[in-house]
Amino acid sequence: MLTWEELENACISCEKCPISKNRTNVVVGDGNKNAKLVFVGEAPGEEEDKQGKPFVGRAGKFLDLALTSLELSREKDFYICNILKCRPPNNRVPTEAEAQNCLPFLRAQIKLISPKIIVCLGATAMKYILGKDLKITQDRGKWFEKGGFWIMATYHPAALLRDPGKREDFYRDLKSVKQKLEKLI
Ligand code: URA
Repeated sequence: MLTWEELENACISCEKCPISKNRTNVVVGDGNKNAKLVFVGEAPGEEEDKQGKPFVGRAGKFLDLALTSLELSREKDFYICNILKCRPPNNRVPTEAEAQNCLPFLRAQIKLISPKIIVCLGATAMKYILGKDLKITQDRGKWFEKGGFWIMATYHPAALLRDPGKREDFYRDLKSVKQKLEKLI
């Protein structure tokens, strides 16, 4: 099993995908590495690429606010990362090849953290963590027990900025996450 240092170095030196050439920073993850809860998004955006941290742009601020209202903080309660560690040009959806190249890093992160709950933020994380046959609109908010983890998908926070009508379901999902966490720890 890799150590955090080995994993971070492997991410930083990775050049498997052509998009690695355009990155400012590799965005490995942020938060409590001993948390029982992990959020997984899609890929870094412009602000994340600049700062080297996940979910620090508009969508990230929205997510942090929603989680703070449930008294969940990055420092204490969760770790957050993405399927891809590099920013795709113009924030396009990761290609299958990019996702497959990058997934071993996510698997190594999850092994090191050993969480009880994984929350997929949006369709891309859902596809690569729960499987391609699920649909975010139909299957969000459902709990799946897989590989020793409790896994749920919910909307990506960027979708909530575009479509406020999705926010009520999103908050309901986050409340369910908080309840599950309280039950499991
Ligand atoms: N969107 C994501 O999926 N991840 C980030 O880190 C930022 C925006």
